[in-house]
Amino acid sequence: MCGIFGTIGANCVTNTLLALHQLEYRGYDSAGIGVKTECGLQIEKSTGRVNALKVDFVAGKVAIGHTRWATHGKVCKQNAHPFVSYDGNFAVVHNGIVENYLQHKLALQRQGVEFASQTDSEVIAHLLAKHFDGDVATTLQKVCNMLTGSFAVVVATSRDDNLYAYKRGSALCVGKGKQGTCVCSDVAVMEQFASSVAVLPENCLAVLGNSVDLWVEGKHVEPCYFAPSHTDCDSNQLQGDAMLAEIFQIPDAVRQTYDYYFASGGLCLDKKQVNGYKRVYFVGCGTAYHSAMVGCSLLQRLAQMDCQAVVASEYVYDSFPTDKHTLVVAISQSGETADTLKAVQKAKRQGATVYAVTNVCNSSLCFEASFVKFVKAGREISVASTKAYNCQLVALTLFAVDFAHAKGRLSARARSRYLTCFDKVPSACKHLVSQSTAFALMAKRYKQAHLAYFVGRRLDFATAKEGALKLKEVSYLPSEAYPSGELKHGTLAMMEQGVLVVALACEKDLVDKCCNTVAEVTSRGASALVLSQYPVSPTSNQVQVVSLPAVDEIFAPIISVVPLQLFAYYFAKGRGCDVDRPRNLAKSVTVE
Ligand code: F6R
Repeated sequence: MCGIFGTIGANCVTNTLLALHQLEYRGYDSAGIGVKTECGLQIEKSTGRVNALKVDFVAGKVAIGHTRWATHGKVCKQNAHPFVSYDGNFAVVHNGIVENYLQHKLALQRQGVEFASQTDSEVIAHLLAKHFDGDVATTLQKVCNMLTGSFAVVVATSRDDNLYAYKRGSALCVGKGKQGTCVCSDVAVMEQFASSVAVLPENCLAVLGNSVDLWVEGKHVEPCYFAPSHTDCDSNQLQGDAMLAEIFQIPDAVRQTYDYYFASGGLCLDKKQVNGYKRVYFVGCGTAYHSAMVGCSLLQRLAQMDCQAVVASEYVYDSFPTDKHTLVVAISQSGETADTLKAVQKAKRQGATVYAVTNVCNSSLCFEASFVKFVKAGREISVASTKAYNCQLVALTLFAVDFAHAKGRLSARARSRYLTCFDKVPSACKHLVSQSTAFALMAKRYKQAHLAYFVGRRLDFATAKEGALKLKEVSYLPSEAYPSGELKHGTLAMMEQGVLVVALACEKDLVDKCCNTVAEVTSRGASALVLSQYPVSPTSNQVQVVSLPAVDEIFAPIISVVPLQLFAYYFAKGRGCDVDRPRNLAKSVTVE
């Protein structure tokens, strides 16, 4: 969600603005910067993008910055961070949610404190002023003890030239570099500013000056520094729309993920461990949930395992039998999604083992998991996830193959045949992205559609869900996915002219079924776009067929989604949408 950054040193303003540009993908409702200068704390805020910030003060000692994804209070300048305390001595940026803010706000208002915003965050600044005991660090600890919820807070003060930070439940890391010390909500952004980075442990208070000091519950702790990794396929370096650039990176990214899976030890579970698990849950949110569906379906198919794909937030609030014989495969591009983190914490409390599949090294999920499998998508900037999804599918398909083999359900020969078959996948993806103009034309052809349904069975249903999500999130066209067989149980009532049905048929035994579905919807006036790697003849001019390159069916979801990603992109462009910054969304959803 919100991105926060703070740094100390001569270039603090320039560096903070640079960091805010990189953090913009975490929230772009408003941006703000607070700088301690010779004249005290100076604040500049603006709604919209970081570019809209007009900062005249370039010289400062300490700076903090924020990009906002609104939770409490509408999008307006007053609700943009940083917030300054009523005595003018503390400037605060915050990510997360202070759940008991109203109780503190009412108490402070009764004591005459005036609030400038509707946010939960502003209360932190005023509480710091109210409870200041002569030491900013102990005051921040005291104030955070009064707060409930999950949050990461960074404070600049007129009282000294340090930065103060606190982490509970929301990610925060500190770094040291040639230019000084810094603190940030996002490990990947630190690459540019720090040569050593440490992730803050839970309930950690950090004081940044020339060095960094950390305390957890009053005890001094040593930061565990590591060198930040420099990512391949970094979309930040690319011109134009990141979403399109990231789709074009898919062929290389899936190859890198495949290679890295083996270079990093393959499955990482031995036969004994595999046979010790009685059930496997695949959990994730949004796009990561769709890859969970694919992973689950393949594991059921190849290993005949009792497994289930579960939306992470449902796992948290419902009762899924979990014990020491349970493996939870948690999938998250960012590794910071609050719902996914809560799900794995709950699973661990109940005795399960957590196996993380993530794109971000040293993300919070890595610290929760017993096993971590990185996907090598490279940094993903566009809010709509594309290449990370394809890479998650590669890692999960290999996981299912190796798990089935370790369980004795897949012969060594069958395993090695599957692995060889992967060779066609990167080139199949490359072929599809090279046809991007055809998908642009297709998007144009259906531009009058007012509603879209994506349908498929088994693995294709997961792809249908991902296609529908991609289209709606970037173009705002209402679009939903159904298992093909479900249409006749109600949704067929919606079919008429102006409705587009995208039907997937990537498994041979399901092609005829798919053709029946297409006939049912087109005979009611809808148009149909059929995607298959098998021959399908269009039965009327309402049907258009996209021929997919042939790959083994277990790898089909990796390639069949590519046309849908391109279609969503071009459809949204045709509607004049800002594809990289869709309304109401943020890249990393760090609140529940
Ligand atoms: C959709 C999208 C979201 C994320 C979801 C989980 O394009 O990006 O649905 O997939 O918020 O995010 P991660 O994978 O970071 O846990």
